[in-house]
Amino acid sequence: MTSTINLSSGERVTIESITSKDYVIISGITKRNFLYAPNFNELSVEDKLGHIKPNSASGIRELCEDKDNICSLAAKTKGGNIAGYVVARKEGRIVAKIARIHVDSEYVGQGVGRLLLERFEQTARQIGYIVMNVLALGKSSGWFERRGYRIKDNAENASGGSASENSAHCKFMTKVL
Ligand SMILES: CC(C)(COP(=O)(O)OP(=O)(O)OC[C@H]1O[C@@H](n2cnc3c(N)ncnc32)[C@H](O)[C@@H]1OP(=O)(O)O)[C@@H](O)C(=O)NCCC(=O)NCCS
Repeated sequence: MTSTINLSSGERVTIESITSKDYVIISGITKRNFLYAPNFNELSVEDKLGHIKPNSASGIRELCEDKDNICSLAAKTKGGNIAGYVVARKEGRIVAKIARIHVDSEYVGQGVGRLLLERFEQTARQIGYIVMNVLALGKSSGWFERRGYRIKDNAENASGGSASENSAHCKFMTKVL
């Protein structure tokens, strides 16, 4: 599977592991998305601030260096820009969860998210994960649906042990890899 794409701008983007030098930039991408990304337009200011808080550079460090982290990938340009990133965590023996997936606003709609998702699903499969979950916020559920994820209903969530429920701005989604 290819891990490099050429963007419409002509820039080449390659998937690499996230390193500690990337935490500040990744934190910035995430915070900006929660403030301005169209997917999150309908979130309240309180919700946005609640999502921004754990995404400081040290929050990103914790996420990437946590013992349950299974994959931290960034899409990087030749010039060293980070176009997007994905972080996934272990949820169970064969179940993983997308903890974050964000593409910088400058690079959205050019296939970066798709490249990140395909590459890390492949990695997760290779190391033995069969089910991938995600908590899709705002309008991002439409994008995940197009990538093969389906919304879990509340009964499934309850039997799976999760206390959270689907709401207008938050959907529990799943995919068999
Ligand atoms: C969601 C996100 C990761 C997608 O990454 P991306 O690089 O822009 O996506 P891609 O370029 O790979 O895919 C674009 C395709 O998805 C479609 N798409 C984009 N957003 C969509 C949505 N909300 N619903 C349905 N389809 C959507 C586009 O129309 C495009 O379709 P096409 O391939 O037929 O042209 C990115 O937009 C993003 O970071 N958004 C803000 C943060 C976010 O929502 N993260 C997920 C929170 S859990």
